[in-house]
Amino acid sequence: MNNNLKEILMIAAREKWALGHFNISNLEQLRAIILAAKSYEVELRKIPIMIGVSEGERNFIGLKQCVYLIKAFREEFQIPIFLNADHSKSAETAKAAFEAGFDSVHIDLSELPYEENLKTTREIIIYIKSRNPDVSVEGELGYIRGRSEIQKEIIEIRPEDLTKPEQAGEFAEKTGIDRFAGAFGNIHGIAANEPKLDIERIAAIRKILPENIALVLHGGSGIPDNQIRSAINAGINNIHINTEIRAAYMNGLTESLRNNPEETTPYKIFPPVIEAVKQKIEEKLRLFTNVN
Ligand code: G3H
Ligand code: ZN
Repeated sequence: MNNNLKEILMIAAREKWALGHFNISNLEQLRAIILAAKSYEVELRKIPIMIGVSEGERNFIGLKQCVYLIKAFREEFQIPIFLNADHSKSAETAKAAFEAGFDSVHIDLSELPYEENLKTTREIIIYIKSRNPDVSVEGELGYIRGRSEIQKEIIEIRPEDLTKPEQAGEFAEKTGIDRFAGAFGNIHGIAANEPKLDIERIAAIRKILPENIALVLHGGSGIPDNQIRSAINAGINNIHINTEIRAAYMNGLTESLRNNPEETTPYKIFPPVIEAVKQKIEEKLRLFTNVN
């Protein structure tokens, strides 16, 4: 499979499956995701994946280190892997990721007033596309509450948080994005209450967006499987997961340390942790591609 990200997302839209976007904070999580994609390939077929790093995650790993790690895994495992600068909150961080060699930049200015979000997103996209049109760009509109953690409180979504379909159409047309991220009942992280996606809104936004623009679901953790399936049927073709990866990692690590309290060798402590994350990713890959 030698397609670029845009082509892959269009194939996903046509065939009604979603490309998994998985966030990482370190090498062990990355390795687990790649191993899961490889197992999926051995069992079913080659599957592309996106690896996302937020500003905090990429500062922790190092910008260049992210790019070279992905390059090394891509070469060794022969899997189409795309590196995304997830939730870039300013022109500076978006451009820095682009200059470092990321395949994709998510520009998230959704906290700004609409006009400002549109104008600055557009300016960053002109900057990126004029230098390398192959780099995929994502814009965001609407307010996604929460953060990628297991949160104890109830998170209520207000009607004004949700993306308006007509605005989504205008935003996509005027900014030049390749991928559209919206708020349709999704939150970041897992809250005390169960999320309820607004499937009709997803379908309405899908209808209004040009066909070659992908529709992205952020905050994929904690959303029940049946809602994920409905969202894909309504037009979602790219799904972000972070909190569930972090939780699998931390649970795996806690257990590994409990089982071997005297152990000091990282390469002996981490294999079960990698396995725990790998299983979580395998589960998501199957769900996103409708394999039961
Ligand atoms: O961009 C990252 C995702 O939207 C992650 O959301 O932590 O709810 O899975 P999540
Ligand atoms: Zn997100």
